[in-house]
Amino acid sequence: MAVKLTAIQADITALAVDAIVNAANGSLLGGGGVDGAIHRAAGPELLRECRTLGGCEIGDAKLTGGYRLPARYVIHTVGPVWRGGVRNEPERLASCYRRSLEIAAEHGIRTLAFPCIATGIYGYPVELAAEVAYRTVSATVVRPISIEEVIFCCFSADDLAVYARLLSLDTK
Ligand code: AR6
Repeated sequence: MAVKLTAIQADITALAVDAIVNAANGSLLGGGGVDGAIHRAAGPELLRECRTLGGCEIGDAKLTGGYRLPARYVIHTVGPVWRGGVRNEPERLASCYRRSLEIAAEHGIRTLAFPCIATGIYGYPVELAAEVAYRTVSATVVRPISIEEVIFCCFSADDLAVYARLLSLDTK
């Protein structure tokens, strides 16, 4: 069965999916943006589990419980800070999506939502990041894995428009 790829405008902390992905930093101990929102919504138990993980490399991902979130799991990944595109940012961002999908598949996750990783505080241009996200997810889910649906969860209407073009969605 083909994996369904969709894009929506939403607060990722409200999504009742098997797992949501967090755009974290290497400490995995919380921060601003979507990371802060996820920790606030999940409650202090999330930070307690994150403290046991020993951080995370750029481009890698680690799984925790979702605690008070509707999502059962959180997959924390660390995107690259945008430095003009000359520091392997596309490869590192692609790795975030690939590793998150691999970890999701290892845990039998069927529905997974990604935020626009690295495009906030880390400054990655959203159009370029969305191309990497879409290309990497499409290429990774061709193998038979547990995942049935991947949602690109956009916080703004502008970000959704970028994904809508890529996915040829009609958002009207
Ligand atoms: N739901 C969905 N998307 C959101 C939400 C939300 N509740 N809140 C923000 N976004 P950012 P980064 C979007 O800055 O660029 C943190 O401090 C936001 O509009 O959260 O990877 C970490 O600890 C943007 O489109 O993550 C790191 O230090 C996207 O999420 C650093 O920020 C990513 O923006 C990571 O920076």
